[in-house]
Amino acid sequence: MPYNLLKGKKGIIFGALDDKSIAWRTALKCHEEGAQLVLSNAPVALRMGEINKLAEAVNAPVIGADVTNMDDLKNLFEESMKHFGGGIDFILHSIGMSLNVRKGKTYTSLDYGFGQKTMDISAMSLHRILRTAWDLDAINEGGSVVALTYIAAQRVFPDYSEMADAKALLESVTRSFGYHYGLRKKVRVNSVSQSPTRTTAGSGVKGFDGFITYAEKMSPLGNASGDECGDYLVTLFSDLTKMVTMQNLFHDGGFSSTGVTEAVINQMEK
Ligand SMILES: NC(=O)c1ccc[n+]([C@@H]2O[C@H](COP(=O)([O-])OP(=O)(O)OC[C@H]3O[C@@H](n4cnc5c(N)ncnc54)[C@H](O)[C@@H]3O)[C@@H](O)[C@H]2O)c1
Repeated sequence: MPYNLLKGKKGIIFGALDDKSIAWRTALKCHEEGAQLVLSNAPVALRMGEINKLAEAVNAPVIGADVTNMDDLKNLFEESMKHFGGGIDFILHSIGMSLNVRKGKTYTSLDYGFGQKTMDISAMSLHRILRTAWDLDAINEGGSVVALTYIAAQRVFPDYSEMADAKALLESVTRSFGYHYGLRKKVRVNSVSQSPTRTTAGSGVKGFDGFITYAEKMSPLGNASGDECGDYLVTLFSDLTKMVTMQNLFHDGGFSSTGVTEAVINQMEK
């Protein structure tokens, strides 16, 4: 049931690839709650064409931007402000890619050239987005920016490989830029640490099927879905969370605070 929590708000959503993407699920929720949207993804992802279905459903333009390219980002923000006729109230950074994982390189044999690209796409892109918005003064007073992350930034999940380092950097940028944007314009910057979710990026992690089942058994509420993540993000984009900033917020059914569960012990005793 919609509550009109985002009525009159204008947001940019990065990273909707297909209907499983967390960004896709979130765009539908934001639209339901009354927001006006601009959708963005890398030009190579736009060529798949799937995003046009979402654009139609949420009545939003699609503006391509490779998040490692400052000219693309400047153009995206300028076009979005033209479209909205003013500033932006919220931004979702739902972007991740590991070249080493994709090329089958293990953590102990990383290719550093690939690694730099991974850091740029998955972590420094948040800095690039915030910096572009900062330079253009594109975000309205009290606006909200959220980046999606994963608990491998705090604890070791071996097959998550270099993405663990990328997420640690992403969470650090969240805090550091959050400080400056908070002082300047009361803009909030947070990261949301989501349960494993079956998406294109998620399924790229080795052993994902076993892992998602393990996380389900280790979470008193079970794994959080993409739709549930969208619901939580709506609250963070709304005016109800105006004093929450520079935080890493777990949206994981309790996984991050659980040592062990009966379900896992029973499995071990079999
Ligand atoms: N799926 C999970 O299990 C899970 C869990 C926790 C956090 N996350 C995070 O959620 C976010 C969204 O991932 P998802 O699971 O929805 O997968 P997804 O594959 O649907 O989304 C990843 C997006 O990143 C985009 N992207 C990659 N390179 C880009 C570039 N250079 N410029 C612009 N966009 C680019 C892709 O096109 C894609 O749309 C990621 O940050 C991911 O790490 C996912």
